[in-house]
Amino acid sequence: MTEKVRVGIIGAGRMGRHHCQNLALRVPAAELAAVADIEAGSADWLAALAPGVYASADHRQLLEDPTIAAVLIATPNDTHAGLVREAAEAAKHVFCEKPLALDLDGADAALAAVAAAGVKLQIGFQRRFDPAYREARRIIEAGELGAVELVSSTTRDPSPPSAEYMRNSGGLFLDTLVHDLDSILFLTGLRAVEVYSAAATLFLPDGRDEGLVDTAITTLRLETGALAVVTNSLRAAYGYEVGAEVLGEKGKVVVGQERLTEIRRYGTEGVSTDHVVKATDRFREAFVSEIADFVDCLLTGREPQVSGEDGRAALQLALLAAQSSSEGRPLAVRPWGWS
Ligand SMILES: NC(=O)c1ccc[n+]([C@@H]2O[C@H](COP(=O)([O-])OP(=O)(O)OC[C@H]3O[C@@H](n4cnc5c(N)ncnc54)[C@H](O)[C@@H]3O)[C@@H](O)[C@H]2O)c1
Repeated sequence: MTEKVRVGIIGAGRMGRHHCQNLALRVPAAELAAVADIEAGSADWLAALAPGVYASADHRQLLEDPTIAAVLIATPNDTHAGLVREAAEAAKHVFCEKPLALDLDGADAALAAVAAAGVKLQIGFQRRFDPAYREARRIIEAGELGAVELVSSTTRDPSPPSAEYMRNSGGLFLDTLVHDLDSILFLTGLRAVEVYSAAATLFLPDGRDEGLVDTAITTLRLETGALAVVTNSLRAAYGYEVGAEVLGEKGKVVVGQERLTEIRRYGTEGVSTDHVVKATDRFREAFVSEIADFVDCLLTGREPQVSGEDGRAALQLALLAAQSSSEGRPLAVRPWGWS
C-alpha cells in the first residue's frame, strides 16, 4: 500500500470544517493528521473524524510535527501570507485558501519563502476543478470558439458575511471578486492589461462608515483587446450564484449551474425549481477534486494546477479593482517584475 500524505488543517471555521471532512472521508491518498484553531475547542470535534487526529490551539504544533507533510490554511484572509511563509519555512507543502495575501508585498514574501524552501503551494481557486469550468477551458484552448471577444463572470452570495469577517477579509474585492478574476484568467488563458471598477454600499450595515462595499461591477481589458465584465453582489435573495460566459467569433460557452437537484414543482402558481444556497453545495465535487489533486502533486512530484503565481495574478487585479473604484478611473496592470 502506498503511504498516505499526512495533512494538518489550520483554521476550523466554515471552510476548514468542510476541508477537514473531505480530507478525512473523500481523499483516499490523504490522511487528516491534526486540526489547529486558536479558538479553544473549535477543532476538537473535527479531531474525532478519524482515529489518531489531534486538535491544537497553536498551528506551530502542526508545523513542528515531522509526520505532517502538508498544511491546509483555512484561516481569515489577513493571516494567509504569514502562515504560508511560516509553513514553507517549516518545510511543509501548503494548500492555502484564497486570497494568497491582502497585498503584493505579503504575496511576494510568501512566494519567496515557498521558492526558497522548495515546497509546493496551491491556492484554493476551486472553480478550476469544476467540470463545467474545465470543459469551457478545454473548448477555448482548443480554439473551438475562435478568438475570445467578450467574457462575463458573476458571483453573488446569498447574504453578506459578518462585519468582522468583512473587515479581516479585504472586503468584496479580495474575498469575492478574486474568484471571478482567476476564472477569467483561467478560462481565456489571457493576461489583463487594464482594470476599472465601480462599487457601491447598498445594504451592508455600517458599510459606508467603514468603507466596505457590497455591490460592484469590474471591467477588464485583456491583452488581445477582448473585454471582460464581472458583476458581484453580497446579497441574492434566491441563494448562491456563480457563472461565466465566454463569447468568441464562432460561438460561446456558458458555465452556470444553479440547481441543487433536478426536482421541479408544478402547482397552481406555476413551476418552480430549487437553487444552490452555499458555495459548498455548488462546488461540492470541486472542493474534493482540488485537494485530491494537491495530494497527488505531493505524491507524484508534479506542480499544482493553481500555483502561487496564479494566486498573485488574481490578487494584483483585485487590488487594482479596489483602487480603481476608490479613484474612479481605469488603471493599467503592470506585468510582474516591472517597477
Ligand atoms: N474557496 C471558496 O470558495 C471559499 C469559500 C469560503 C471561504 N473561503 C476561505 O476560507 C478561509 C476561511 O473562511 P471561513 O469562512 O471558514 O472563516 P471562519 O471565520 O468561519 O473561520 C476561520 C477560522 O480560523 C480560525 N483562526 C483564525 N486565526 C487562526 C490562526 N492563526 N490559527 C488557527 N486558526 C485560526 C478562527 O478561529 C476560525 O475558526 C478564508 O480565507 C476564506 O476566504 C473560501
